[in-house]
Amino acid sequence: MRTVTLINGDGIGPEITDAVVKIIAASGLEINWDLQTAGADVIEKEGTPLPDRVIESIKKNKVALKAPVTTPIGKGFRSVNVQLRKSLDLYSNLRPCKNIDGINTKFSDVDLVIVRENTEDLYAGIERQIDENHAESIKIISREASLRIAEFAFDYAVKYKRKKVTAVTKANICKLTDGLFLECCRKVKEKYPNIEYNEILVDNACMQLVQNPEKFDVMVLPNLYGDIVSDLCAGLIGGLGVAQGANIGKDYAVFEPVHGSAPDIKGQNKANPTALLLSAIEMLKYIGETVYAEKIDKALRKTLKEGKSLTADLGGNASTTEFRDEIIKNL
Ligand code: NAI
Repeated sequence: MRTVTLINGDGIGPEITDAVVKIIAASGLEINWDLQTAGADVIEKEGTPLPDRVIESIKKNKVALKAPVTTPIGKGFRSVNVQLRKSLDLYSNLRPCKNIDGINTKFSDVDLVIVRENTEDLYAGIERQIDENHAESIKIISREASLRIAEFAFDYAVKYKRKKVTAVTKANICKLTDGLFLECCRKVKEKYPNIEYNEILVDNACMQLVQNPEKFDVMVLPNLYGDIVSDLCAGLIGGLGVAQGANIGKDYAVFEPVHGSAPDIKGQNKANPTALLLSAIEMLKYIGETVYAEKIDKALRKTLKEGKSLTADLGGNASTTEFRDEIIKNL
């Protein structure tokens, strides 16, 4: 039986994790979940939000399914997510974004993939207080990280029969940092003559995404723009409740939804487990459990399409557990 690290997170994390684990079990697939807690709740006992045991577990099992973990705003501990991505060198953050039948949105032809660099940029949170009235943040972009994320994006395009890769930056202003990122994308594209390549500034990209999202295919971005643009793209397909993601490195992979811990609906049995379930489905494909992945995917899509039992974020009034049970019924 395959062992997979399971980080159930905090906020709505435990509720959606419980739903996903039960759906996978109901599909007939046995997974030995190595449950690892992390985040604010473990600090008191273990002195850190990300104990070594979590990293060790992922190193041993090579793959993890992760629910969101809260990061305090403006103060407090460093993001568990950033630390995890950094310590396991999960350099690519992959966020496919495609319309789902049954979920009504303004657009019906969204089918794009965000490839976000996951280890550096302003998102590394390297900051200091200069004096009472000034603070600074350091934006680091390296040739090595930019080349490998560009390669990941082009390889992905080839593997999944995509046509175009668009590099998204603000290189007109951040001439050195984003300029280096672009230089690397241009170098890598030379090796992929069959994939179309273009470049766009991030502000223009945002405007075009909300007018003509069908124009975009694979998008490759430095870390911070990737973070922001993926939430925008989640909005194009029905919101954060349905936006899946994965952090992939050379040796390890951590599958997690785009959304956060949603403290506003925590503990109310309201959260939509779809984004975590879609991430879990990709995780199952990654470990070779394709038959079960497809079985669960079919049941999920049937449930969403029928629309009898949808959570509030999708306009329904089903609870997390009712939605879960409907998927299990459709398996
Ligand atoms: P959020 O993504 O948690 O929530 C934004 C809005 O979307 C809220 O109204 C929430 O109720 C709704 N929402 C999110 N997921 C949902 C779901 N599955 N079903 C239904 N509604 C859902 O973003 P927010 O509030 O900015 O962040 C909350 C915390 O999460 C912060 O501490 C942040 O740092 C953390 N976070 C963690 C991430 C991770 O662990 N990978 C990713 C993003 C944020």
